[in-house]
Amino acid sequence: MSKVTVVGAGNVGATCANVLAVNEVANQVCLIDIKEGLSEGKAMDIMQTAQLMGFDTVVEGVTNDYSKTANSDVVIITSGLPRKPGMTREELIGVNAGIVKSVATQLLQYSPNAILVVVSNPMDTMAYLTLHALGLPRNRVIGMGGALDSARLKYFLSQALKCNANDVDGFVIGGHGDTTMIPLTSYTTYKGIPVTEFLSEDEIEQVVKSTMVGGATLTGLLGTSAWMAPGAAAASVAEAIIKDQKKMIPCSAALEGEYGMKDITIGVPCIIGRNGIEKVLELKISQAEMEKLRESEVAVRKTTAILKDLNVL
Ligand code: 2OP
Repeated sequence: MSKVTVVGAGNVGATCANVLAVNEVANQVCLIDIKEGLSEGKAMDIMQTAQLMGFDTVVEGVTNDYSKTANSDVVIITSGLPRKPGMTREELIGVNAGIVKSVATQLLQYSPNAILVVVSNPMDTMAYLTLHALGLPRNRVIGMGGALDSARLKYFLSQALKCNANDVDGFVIGGHGDTTMIPLTSYTTYKGIPVTEFLSEDEIEQVVKSTMVGGATLTGLLGTSAWMAPGAAAASVAEAIIKDQKKMIPCSAALEGEYGMKDITIGVPCIIGRNGIEKVLELKISQAEMEKLRESEVAVRKTTAILKDLNVL
């Protein structure tokens, strides 16, 4: 038996629960929210697609009763406010920090061994908060931003190359912020061939720019944060854990000296399996990319330092 809890039945949480069910990632999915009836309604709606989509996963919705989340293998925290047009992810810290800390504390009471996947923004800082507020080892707290940003990079690459998104590869490291993420162009390939063979420098630069503001572009179009790709990205991290896939997924991880950083949670390529973050990969990156990573580090540390002012750490 495997169980995943998704906290927050808003757009991202409900989409995540739906992907977990349709892909039969776990036997049981618990969707929990503070708003009376919301989780129950979304879970019922998902379950009414079971026969249409042909899945066996059981999705249960609950209002605020954390005892129902007991014995989860993975918990995904999406709670808190989403971005509004014109807002940065960092501006959400004041409201979301208290929510994320309280949710994570309650979850751990009932699932003391769960791996936690953090989605709430500002994501790197919320992952740092979860790790330190609960005193967990680094393998057990994963920020999902890099999975999402890398999926967006592959989308924009496939658009530029006019090819199938599954034929391109590449990933994003650094913070999950409009100015802090770093699409690693040196590792972007089309069927293993460097994209520099097919795209001009300007075209690659445009892909990088579109990726970096990928979330903001959608927030402008939708009037609120995106949810399809964020929900699916979180579900893909949960799947790598539940199925012990040992996949390389760029995630926000607590660094212990890798890339010259400590006491920070920031996006790096990780091997994700049953124990959560099983390894942080230290790649060779160019001087220019290293400089961008240093800038990203400064920005992420600045946001994370606000946790102390908020008295949540
Ligand atoms: C995004 O990038 C909300 O951070 C999320 O869409």
